[in-house]
Amino acid sequence: MTSLIHSFVGGTTGKWRVERVSTLTGPALPPVQRLAIFDGDHPAPPADGVWLLRGVTSYERYVHRAERSALVARQPDLGRPNATCAALIPIKKSVVWWELTQDERRMIFEERSHHITIGLRYLPAIARRLYHSHDLGEPFDFLTWFEYAPADAEVFEELVGTLRQTEEWTYVEREIDIRLVVEDSLARQCEDAIDLSSHSLR
Ligand code: HEM
Repeated sequence: MTSLIHSFVGGTTGKWRVERVSTLTGPALPPVQRLAIFDGDHPAPPADGVWLLRGVTSYERYVHRAERSALVARQPDLGRPNATCAALIPIKKSVVWWELTQDERRMIFEERSHHITIGLRYLPAIARRLYHSHDLGEPFDFLTWFEYAPADAEVFEELVGTLRQTEEWTYVEREIDIRLVVEDSLARQCEDAIDLSSHSLR
């Protein structure tokens, strides 16, 4: 059975190799070479782990019925064989955000920042899963996880860049963008795509 809680261990083992890390806001995490994801709880980092972040899958807080239908119709599953690039983006929002009411947060999240409307444009290229950490007393409120093919690396840059310009992001007080590749021959293509997209941004 799949557990609700998942443990993300940064260290020296795991399927995902860390390609690059950008600390956008707030303190950094110690550098690691690899990421392992465990279905279930890990009370402390294993011997080969440097940091441990935990989150639970949970019910949706903001999504309206029509939005859910659009998401369900378009969102791909995780674990597609060609999705050899991934991003783990842990995010913490401010006390001011958490003191808002549910209605006020929805207003900022969708009516004014268009998070779902923007995100939908990137489906099915990007597969995603949201883990909640706020109520676990973790250092981050959310662990956001994304998987995509090397050919969509540039598209993903556009998505994160667009969301970071929104009003919602003014409430983000810690964000670290960890990019990963599956360590096999396909991963090479992902690195090449990242190189190409960074060249084209210059
Ligand atoms: C692939 C396109 C994306 C789609 C379709 C999407 C969709 C969604 C949806 C539907 C929710 C609301 C869940 C709920 O009702 O509780 C959500 C929440 C969230 N998403 Fe996205 N998203 C996308 C990309 C991203 C990206 C790239 C980031 C980070 C850079 C991100 C960060 C978050 C965070 C932090 C939340 C939680 C917000 C909160 O509860 O305060 N999303 N997303």
